[in-house]
Amino acid sequence: MIDTRSEILTTAPVANRLLTSMQGSEILRIAYEVQGLIAQGHRIANFTIGDFDPSTFPIPAELKEYVYEAYEAGQTNYPQAMGNPVLRQAIVSYYEGGLGISYSPDEIAVGSGVRPLIYSLFMAAVEPGEAVVYGLPAWNTAAYVRLSRAADCGLSTRAEDNFLLTAERVRPYLPEAALLALCSPSNPSGTMFDRHQLDELCAAVLDENDRRRRQGRKPLYVLYDQVYWQFGHSRDHMHPVGLRPEMQAFTVYVDGLSKSFAATGLRVGWCAGPRELVHHISNLVGFVGAWAPKPEQLAAARYLPLFEAQRSYLVEMGARIYERLRRVERRLTTLKERGLPVSCIAPQGGLFLSICCELRGAITPAGDRLETVEDLRRYLLLEGGCAFVPFAAFDAPDSPEWFRASVSSLSDADIDYGLDRLEAALTALRYP
Ligand SMILES: Cc1ncc(COP(=O)(O)O)c(C=O)c1O
Repeated sequence: MIDTRSEILTTAPVANRLLTSMQGSEILRIAYEVQGLIAQGHRIANFTIGDFDPSTFPIPAELKEYVYEAYEAGQTNYPQAMGNPVLRQAIVSYYEGGLGISYSPDEIAVGSGVRPLIYSLFMAAVEPGEAVVYGLPAWNTAAYVRLSRAADCGLSTRAEDNFLLTAERVRPYLPEAALLALCSPSNPSGTMFDRHQLDELCAAVLDENDRRRRQGRKPLYVLYDQVYWQFGHSRDHMHPVGLRPEMQAFTVYVDGLSKSFAATGLRVGWCAGPRELVHHISNLVGFVGAWAPKPEQLAAARYLPLFEAQRSYLVEMGARIYERLRRVERRLTTLKERGLPVSCIAPQGGLFLSICCELRGAITPAGDRLETVEDLRRYLLLEGGCAFVPFAAFDAPDSPEWFRASVSSLSDADIDYGLDRLEAALTALRYP
């Protein structure tokens, strides 16, 4: 007798094909592997974590106190759909004071961290099949492209351009694009647009939208992910509306508490952009129920207007992050000067550093030849004691020798330990 039940189980699809075709995050796979090795007792400098160690980087004391007070006051029911009005007003002041941009509260939507807002923006701005243009390497953009069933127009970038897009690179692709996704300071490269590079990109978008207005077409929108904007270390933060006020009609900023205030677990993010688009984004956040928790929203609403308290928090935190990034950079520069095949881009902003390890073709002490990205990554991990994330995990296989190093969960001692072992592992390689 045929067992129809088991036949159905083995042949029928178990889930939506879009989701089953999406691989899990490569970044998380690497992070879990590293955690497993550490749990087994291996000492590793874990440069993979894009999060803060709360014992080193706690959230601001006032923010914590306001969260407690909101719970004490019983603020535990549903938040308002677009975000609490006091929070949206506080975000308006935060952007007016910090970035010199004016919004009205109905041009702001709030969500549970930045991610649901990015997803909702893709859904609101892009029809299935329309192109999304973005630079590679990129954090998660390819996943949002797939989820919105958009045409993927991820463009490779060059180290000379700080792994960021240029106007020259994007211009040919803009006529067909619905969305241009930019991120500065960038995850993963730790680099930032300078005035000229971003201004030229804005000019390209404005030219394209002039044409579209004459043709009666939907404008090209820009997603500007500035979640790391409070950490411009060696550069000032540039953003589209600051350079070209006309960009306000086309730009959606996404941002939140997560990085600026080391509050990745509080889940408060927001976007600011054209009213109608923000309205649709907010509707979708509501259907998915991806609101920010109400006590955290109310706490953020009280904290964001405290400019003085924020400044002292950010100055101290920024200095500590930059010092760690510089520590890695200085050491890698010394190794390079000694003739070892490693270098990095000087840190500009955010939590990350781009590191280049030119190890392809090298022979390890065990006699193995390093060829693939995975060979390099594993040698750096197992022999070099340093866990990095390759740019290939950020959809940039064209940069096989580049890696992201994150410093926000490492002590100085961990960094020094990792780089000592890295030096020994690089010295032990032979080049035939
Ligand atoms: C560039 C960038 N945008 C957005 C996010 C997501 O932030 P959130 O944790 O608030 O969803 C991250 C998180 O790592 C990020 O690196």
